Amino acid sequence: MKILVTGGAGFLGSVAVPQLLSDGHQVRVLDSLMFNQIGPLALYINPDFEFIKGDMRDNETVKRALDGVDFVINLAALVGAPLCKQREKEAWEVNYEAALLVESLRAPGQGYLFPNSTSGYGTRNPVDGLCTEDTPMEPISTYGQTKVKAEQELITKPDVVSYRFTTVFGLSPRLRLDLMPNEFMWRAIHEQALTIFEPEFQRSFIHITDIARCLAFTIENFDKMKGRSFNVGHESMNMTKRQLAEQISEKTGCKLSFDDSRADPDKRNYFVSFGRIQEMGFIPRIRLDQGLTALREGLKTVEWSSTFTNVQ
Ligand SMILES: NC(=O)c1ccc[n+]([C@@H]2O[C@H](COP(=O)([O-])OP(=O)(O)OC[C@H]3O[C@@H](n4cnc5c(N)ncnc54)[C@H](O)[C@@H]3O)[C@@H](O)[C@H]2O)c1
Repeated sequence: MKILVTGGAGFLGSVAVPQLLSDGHQVRVLDSLMFNQIGPLALYINPDFEFIKGDMRDNETVKRALDGVDFVINLAALVGAPLCKQREKEAWEVNYEAALLVESLRAPGQGYLFPNSTSGYGTRNPVDGLCTEDTPMEPISTYGQTKVKAEQELITKPDVVSYRFTTVFGLSPRLRLDLMPNEFMWRAIHEQALTIFEPEFQRSFIHITDIARCLAFTIENFDKMKGRSFNVGHESMNMTKRQLAEQISEKTGCKLSFDDSRADPDKRNYFVSFGRIQEMGFIPRIRLDQGLTALREGLKTVEWSSTFTNVQ
């Protein structure tokens, strides 16, 4: 298959693109390289890889990028609540308007894979039990709002699959240290101490290599998945912040403390159901323990840098 990956030089894209290439697909990446990434350089040796440096908001660029592909995986976005708060107009332009620009320019039959986030379940709804794909989405951040509005419009169109990814963790050529497990692990190793606010908040995680596998799985199973949204994660990684921090502390020996008096600006506090994607046959392979061990070994070598967070 020939696949366009927008945002393919980002955290997820930098792991997903090599996976798709090794599965035998031809991959074209469209990315503005907003973090000055150089990860894609290593892929030029592969004749099935092609790169367009450009902006998702530009009509002609998107047209050129879509030319001749079977699928588009639209990962390009301003990602995370802090960045979207800082650059609100651009967040709507990239996350929402450009997602619909792709929709308006793609040819009939070109499949469209769109990532939303479980952060869209928001906190305004009191959620009883697990969030399923039918739980109403009422995001509180601009980030969540841009992604949910885009998903709601796209999923009514033919040949679209959307995902609600849980918080992704792990290592990537375009590293992010602003994701909870990655940040906790870095602090545990380099500061030897972790202080956790609102430790009973419930969160869900998935390893980055399983996101790459999920995208590849969707290409193989597109006809049975199209027209639906899928939560992506694994129930073993539905856990409180306290449980995550305790596992990290066990692995690193760092000092752990809990502070109930300080609020976490990230209000996500719910577990997620993954029954729908499991019924399709997709089950993540990397469990928390294995993912955290790799993360610990990798992050030992990494100094903190503002280029590893989406806001400086
Ligand atoms: N990482 C997570 O935990 C997570 C969870 C749920 C959903 N998602 C979604 O997955 C996708 C990828 O996230 P990520 O973690 O890899 O983020 P990232 O910030 O690492 O990657 C985003 C990429 O988009 C590119 N980009 C930004 N604006 C652009 C523009 N105008 N034109 C072209 N390229 C542009 C950036 O250069 C970057 O390479 C996003 O759509 C995000 O909403 C991520």
